[in-house]
Amino acid sequence: MVNTTTTAGLIGVVLLARHGDRTGYYQDPTTYNSTQAYITPLGEQQEFELGSFLRNTYLNPASPSFIQNISTDVVNIDQLAVRADAGGGNVILNSAYALLQGLYPSTSKSELTLANGSVILPPLGGYQYVPVESLEFWQSPSLTSWMECEYFQYHLARLYVSTSFINMSTTAAPFLTALKPYLGGVNNTLSNMIYDHVNVQYTYNKTYYETLPPTFLQQARYYADWLQRNVFTDSVQNGIGQIPIRTLLPEIFWALGNMTKTSNQVKMNIQEIDYKPFISLFNVTNATLADPDIAGIANYGSVVALELSQNSQGQHEVSMKFKNGTQDSEFRQLKMFGNTSITLDSFIQQLFWTTINSTNNWCFSCNQTVLRGCSVYNYSNDPFLYGYGTGYTG
Ligand SMILES: *[C@@H]1O[C@H](CO)[C@@H](O)[C@H](O)[C@H]1NC(C)=O
Ligand SMILES: *[C@@H]1O[C@H](CO)[C@@H](O)[C@H](O)[C@H]1NC(C)=O
Ligand SMILES: *[C@@H]1O[C@H](CO)[C@@H](O)[C@H](O)[C@H]1NC(C)=O
Ligand SMILES: *[C@@H]1O[C@H](CO)[C@@H](O)[C@H](O)[C@H]1NC(C)=O
Ligand SMILES: *[C@@H]1O[C@H](CO)[C@@H](O)[C@H](O)[C@H]1NC(C)=O
Ligand SMILES: *[C@@H]1O[C@H](CO)[C@@H](O)[C@H](O)[C@H]1NC(C)=O
Ligand SMILES: *[C@@H]1O[C@H](CO)[C@@H](O)[C@H](O)[C@H]1NC(C)=O
Ligand SMILES: *[C@@H]1O[C@H](CO)[C@@H](O)[C@H](O)[C@H]1NC(C)=O
Ligand SMILES: *[C@@H]1O[C@H](CO)[C@@H](O)[C@H](O)[C@H]1NC(C)=O
Ligand SMILES: *[C@@H]1O[C@H](CO)[C@@H](O)[C@H](O)[C@H]1NC(C)=O
Ligand SMILES: *[C@@H]1O[C@H](CO)[C@@H](O)[C@H](O)[C@H]1NC(C)=O
Ligand SMILES: *[C@@H]1O[C@H](CO)[C@@H](O)[C@H](O)[C@H]1NC(C)=O
Repeated sequence: MVNTTTTAGLIGVVLLARHGDRTGYYQDPTTYNSTQAYITPLGEQQEFELGSFLRNTYLNPASPSFIQNISTDVVNIDQLAVRADAGGGNVILNSAYALLQGLYPSTSKSELTLANGSVILPPLGGYQYVPVESLEFWQSPSLTSWMECEYFQYHLARLYVSTSFINMSTTAAPFLTALKPYLGGVNNTLSNMIYDHVNVQYTYNKTYYETLPPTFLQQARYYADWLQRNVFTDSVQNGIGQIPIRTLLPEIFWALGNMTKTSNQVKMNIQEIDYKPFISLFNVTNATLADPDIAGIANYGSVVALELSQNSQGQHEVSMKFKNGTQDSEFRQLKMFGNTSITLDSFIQQLFWTTINSTNNWCFSCNQTVLRGCSVYNYSNDPFLYGYGTGYTG
């Protein structure tokens, strides 16, 4: 490993932010297809707090993680690139807006003087309107790559008949039986919907909150963490279970690569997403080897930071940090491949081969020939169609 002494301040950061608290939703256990739900006031607060935390960390000149030359109070929109999954409900897109309101809050400094001398302050005491690229489900699979992915559905089917799943279902059976009266219309089998139902009811339903037996929420979370860890990882880094991060890594590489260029202006790249890419990311980078407790679902308002700096030899380095929602008040340093910091070249080199960087590659990696824009490609002579191409580990 190279010397990690860095020049003062960061060059930039890529942030993966999970949306805030939301209303209940339905996610099909056999496909993991779902529509988004709607953000709640609690979720808005969580994201606003996350934005304030990021402001203290990256926009405060006294912070060791201050980003060189970034505008601190009045946003320079050329320095930010923000993208959010916009499919279905509004929870992820509105989470991005709430985060940005905490990152660059309203300020009278955002006033502007017109040619005729009038001074104009934006509404709401100087609200700062930051552009967000909203990615619709039909536009690209990049942020929703597990949906309508045929090989991912095979992966789920294999998981449900695996000995570890059957074993865990057996272990969970007494709890699931006891939980049945608290599940409403939800099946009391080991599935992703159990914790979600319990959590939403426990947060919003007073009777439920007062009658749910102690530890039931934590037990439901335990099984959900176990299940999601198995759904969104795989035995190899380019396995189809890792697909949520495999389609997001290209954006991360491009963003960090751009930040190394002198012509670059973007210093903060924010991807507002759901919980799945966090699980895959921590697995493909071996972060869960050093910190096994991060293998579960990231809480609402969680964030992963990939910080770019330059070491004394002039090499660009990447360091990964994580904050598990409002439960953590500070970032936690993670290790990628055993190191707290690795060169950008090594980061890319270790993961480039796993990436899915276009809709075309996604169609082939998923054996999807019709939906999500895949029907325009020519599949004749295609090795992927027959199950031995990238991504299929059957
Ligand atoms: C910050 O600005 C200084 C002075 O303009 C320049 O020398 C330096 O390269 C800039 N650093 C970054 C990371 O943009
Ligand atoms: C999957 O979910 C998306 C987004 O909510 C929706 O547009 C699509 O029709 C769904 N696909 C299936 C096969 O249900
Ligand atoms: C200056 O221009 C603005 C925008 O057109 C207008 O609202 C304002 O009344 C003008 N002020 C003066 C002093 O003419
Ligand atoms: C489940 O796995 C554990 C070890 O992980 C083992 O001790 C236990 O016997 C297994 N239970 C069943 C029902 O297979
Ligand atoms: C409940 O789970 C069982 C077993 O996985 C499944 O056969 C059944 O279709 C599910 N019912 C509903 C309503 O989802
Ligand atoms: C609230 O929880 C109680 C107790 O579990 C349940 O009977 C009731 O249907 C729930 N209310 C709503 C609106 O879901
Ligand atoms: C990287 O820079 C290129 C050229 O300016 C731009 O087209 C592209 O959108 C940037 N990509 C990212 C992820 O920042
Ligand atoms: C990644 O996930 C696979 C499959 O769940 C598991 O076998 C492996 O141990 C995980 N790797 C790490 C580093 O946690
Ligand atoms: C976040 O914390 C919750 C408990 O509040 C835990 O269940 C979960 O595994 C943690 N997730 C990560 C990614 O650390
Ligand atoms: C990642 O962890 C696995 C064990 O899960 C190990 O075999 C592999 O060498 C590690 N990779 C790196 C680059 O550290
Ligand atoms: C996209 O992935 C392919 C391999 O599937 C690779 O050859 C190509 O260089 C990648 N393009 C970019 C821009 O990363
Ligand atoms: C891939 O899709 C094609 C066309 O839908 C189908 O004929 C083929 O059996 C599929 N391959 C696998 C491995 O499922």
